This record gives sequence, structure tokens and C-alpha cells, in this order.
Amino acid sequence: MNNDLIIPNHIGIIMDGNGRWAQEKGMIRTMGHKKAIETLRELLIHMADVGVKYCSLYAFSTENFKRDVSEVEFLMNLFIVAFQKEIEFLKSMKVRVVFSGRKNPLPEKVLEVMDKIVEDTKNNDKLVLNICLNYGSHAEIVDTTKKICEMYKSGKISLDDVNEELFESNLYNNLPPLDFVIRTSGELRLSNFMMWQASYAEFYFPKTYFPDFDSKEFDKAILEFNKRNRRFGGVK
Ligand code: FPP
Repeated sequence: MNNDLIIPNHIGIIMDGNGRWAQEKGMIRTMGHKKAIETLRELLIHMADVGVKYCSLYAFSTENFKRDVSEVEFLMNLFIVAFQKEIEFLKSMKVRVVFSGRKNPLPEKVLEVMDKIVEDTKNNDKLVLNICLNYGSHAEIVDTTKKICEMYKSGKISLDDVNEELFESNLYNNLPPLDFVIRTSGELRLSNFMMWQASYAEFYFPKTYFPDFDSKEFDKAILEFNKRNRRFGGVK
């Protein structure tokens, strides 16, 4: 990749189109999620290589629990298997994993492997991988508000202390703002993904289904990002 390109510091990826990818190939939907893991591996290597520092992935939304029980079960098992299997790969890549989302009602075993991967990668500093699992922006904003109310109730803060900085530092993870949000498969929605963090992000909606969103597709996205004129509400 051209060295003069600006690499977004924090990229969000809404990994959409797994089901359609599989169905169009005559396979069951869940095969698309399986293939997505291979794609993720390739992307992570590439992102670390080009210098992305933070990547947030939308792995499972609070609303995804409305899916067919068998698909939800498949995904929960996939998380367990993938988090166990990829731990060494992530360690070798110096990736630090954090999670955003509500614990309830995730299965105990999923929570266990999540804790392990966070603990085992906590000293890594090449790239922070924020996995949004049982995540929704509305839930995050409500949970953060509750946390701040508790701080106020216990006398730790006064009403005047409540401002954007305090709110931001009490979100699920204290991450820098998103610079670039990619949603694959041609859908033009945010779907409750990191709304606070995406307030000044650039958006990119390739038609490619996530399983086919490889490093070449990623490079095209970076070229597109470099064409954008980011003004952050000011004049440039
Ligand atoms: C959206 O495609 C994808 C999901 C709801 C699941 C994403 C999960 C993974 C890729 C699993 C791996 C993640 C990690 C972090 C280990 P869709 O099923 O909505 O596709 P469709 O729109 O074609 O139906």
C-alpha cells in the first residue's frame, strides 16, 4: 500500500452479509459465519501491518438474540471455539482484545472464554481489538448513564462534573473516536453500532459480503477514506 496514505486510527466493521454469502453458494447461512472467521484473520494481519491501532467489530448485537435459536446457538459456539483457538494467533500478533456489550444473557461458557482472552492479551499493544458482543449503542448509553447516576448518588461526583468527557470515559471501553466505519453487503444502516463513538466517522458501504472482504477490498476502503475531507464541524 502507498506509504502516503492516511490510515484511520480506529476502524469499525459491521460484518454483514455472511448469511447471503452462504445462501448464494447453496450452503446453510451459518457457513458464512464460519468463513467470516478466516476473513477476519486475514484482515487482522493486514490491519496490524498497515498501522491500524484500534478495530471495533460488530460480532453480535443485542437484537441478534431475536434470530432463530439454532443460529444463535451456532454463533455462541463459534465464539467459544474461535476465542479458544485464536488466542495464540492474537498473542503472536500482539493484539489486545477487549469486549463491549452486556453480559446478560450470554452463556456462562462464552463469558469464561471472553474473560480468558482479555486476561491473556491485556499487555499487548500493537492493535486493540474491541469485539462488540451482545452490544447495542442504546444499551451502552443507558448503562453508562446508570453508572454515572451511581457515582452521583454515592457522592463521587457532582452534577457539574457530568460532561462529554466524563460520559465518554465511562462507556464500556475508553476508546478513541471511530474514524472510519465499514459496513459490508451494501446495507446503508448503522444498526445501533457505536453511535457515540461514530459521531464524526466517515462511512463506507461496499457491496461485497463480509466473507469476501479481504485485504484487497480493505485497501480499496482505505483509498476511499483518503478521498474524504474531514472537517469535524469546522471549515477546511
Ligand atoms: C451479519 O451477517 C453477521 C453476524 C450477525 C455475525 C457476525 C459474526 C461473526 C462474523 C463471527 C465471528 C466473530 C468473531 C469476533 C469471532 P448476517 O448473518 O446478518 O448476513 P445476512 O445479512 O446476509 O443475513
